[in-house]
Amino acid sequence: MDIRAAELVDKLAGEHALALDDYEYLVEHLDEEVRDLLAEHARAAREPIYGHDVFVRGLIEFSSYCKNDCYYCGLRASNASCERYRLTAGQILACADRGYELGFRTFVLQGGEDPRFTDERLCAIVRALKEAHPDCAVTLSVGERTRESYARLREAGADRYLLRHETATPEHYARLHPAGMSWEHRMQCLRDLRELGFAVGAGFMVGSPFQTSANLARDLAFIQEFQPEMCGIGPFVPHHATPFANEPAGTLEQTLGLLSIIRLIKPNILLPATTALGTIHPRGRELGMEAGANVVMPNLSPGDVRAKYLLYDGKICTGDEAAECRRCLEMRMAGCGYTVVTDRGDPRIV
Ligand code: 5AD
Ligand code: FES
Repeated sequence: MDIRAAELVDKLAGEHALALDDYEYLVEHLDEEVRDLLAEHARAAREPIYGHDVFVRGLIEFSSYCKNDCYYCGLRASNASCERYRLTAGQILACADRGYELGFRTFVLQGGEDPRFTDERLCAIVRALKEAHPDCAVTLSVGERTRESYARLREAGADRYLLRHETATPEHYARLHPAGMSWEHRMQCLRDLRELGFAVGAGFMVGSPFQTSANLARDLAFIQEFQPEMCGIGPFVPHHATPFANEPAGTLEQTLGLLSIIRLIKPNILLPATTALGTIHPRGRELGMEAGANVVMPNLSPGDVRAKYLLYDGKICTGDEAAECRRCLEMRMAGCGYTVVTDRGDPRIV
């Protein structure tokens, strides 16, 4: 095994921090032996905090309209072949009711940046959800908004917010997004969300076009510095109707290595094994758990809209109902020694 990489893994496991150069070295030396060593330490770091518990989040994809034009995403405004839909407040609440019966205690409302969902409408939905299920956490994942908007949503009762930073390198950000979108604004949003008292989820794609090891090292240093409560990472997967249609997907191996590193940076972080990981490998999510993840986010969206919320090609679970996904995941997790729990799944204090 590469001696320096092994030393860096030990250091990371002991100190939960590395210098930028060291992250880059580690990212460049993620061979099988190093990944195994990382995964072993990651599981050991997770064990005293979460044991073999897996938290589930019920994902409600409520709008496929998006005003943005990110080069990687199938929902981008320029994709005229994307079938758009919006769920009504009533449909969203019905999804949550169904989810509650199935044991979900966190609902994630995710959508494109859809101007139809004004603060007033979104706040009303959040309030109704919290009123119907006061023992549940509500997570929003609706992109960049103003600080005032975030403040209203928080005031309405939203507990958590997912906004992947996408890349911690401004030049890389500019190659993934059109000129109208700015890295500085995205980072400002994350700081605002944190200050307003949300539990915040950052994250990035693995193997996105133009990504270098130095970029990934910056992503890791950012996670170390910002200490988000959650971190969503998954492989980039091309979508046929985007400018990146012909770019290669991110790899299983690199994603697993990075999951382990992130667990070691912040042992109590909430770390999902993402749908994108399950898309590039039939056991992607199980392997994610074995690498240190502790969250899965099955889909609660109504069956008739699922196949329309396609950020990338080949997305799994588009033909399954909520109950099937829940059961399937429980089986998959049990199959590798993990237990899906009925719990809000807040970060446990270490
Ligand atoms: N492949 C993988 N992940 C993607 N996302 C968007 N498009 C893709 C893609 N083609 C991720 C982005 C975004 C999150 C909702 O999904 O990181 O923040
Ligand atoms: Fe949806 Fe397996 S998680 S079918």
